Amino acid sequence: MKGKDKVSVLFVCLGNICRSPTAQGIFHRLVLSEGLDERVEIDSAGTGDWHVGKPPDPRSLDAAQKRGLNIAGLRARQVSPSDFDKFDYILAMDERNLADLRAMSPPHYQGVLDLFLNFGGHPDYREVPDPYFQGGRSFELVLDLIESASEGLLAHIREHHLR
Ligand code: 4NP
Repeated sequence: MKGKDKVSVLFVCLGNICRSPTAQGIFHRLVLSEGLDERVEIDSAGTGDWHVGKPPDPRSLDAAQKRGLNIAGLRARQVSPSDFDKFDYILAMDERNLADLRAMSPPHYQGVLDLFLNFGGHPDYREVPDPYFQGGRSFELVLDLIESASEGLLAHIREHHLR
């Protein structure tokens, strides 16, 4: 993959209305700020289909807005088998998402299927905890973890693909 024109990243959670659209928005803002918009393609999806077509959860919209990020234009979609043909990185928010993705993944998948926080998170967290039934401060934690892992992911992509 080294020297490729473009690297593509898909963020995946359960509903695609809280964690993965937040990751899509935060990572996209970071990529834009580094002038790499033409080189890195970003999307998000959910393993479940309950919220397909819906905008992000209002609590995620609020938490992102507090950090100056507007993700209101995003719409939920479900992971599709063709995503394994399209994306170089498929990054799961938690172990359950990762297990579901592994079960879907074709044996020939050449990309990286991993937990997002393996690219840099917080020493106390391997997963981005599902905030949907938690509320309150859990939406801030989602942002904190995603901001930190996004920095690590972009550093990794620069190192491995964009040099
Ligand atoms: P997400 O959060 O996976 O971060 O989008 C959830 C959204 C909806 C549900 C669970 C988690 N749900 O059960 O409907």
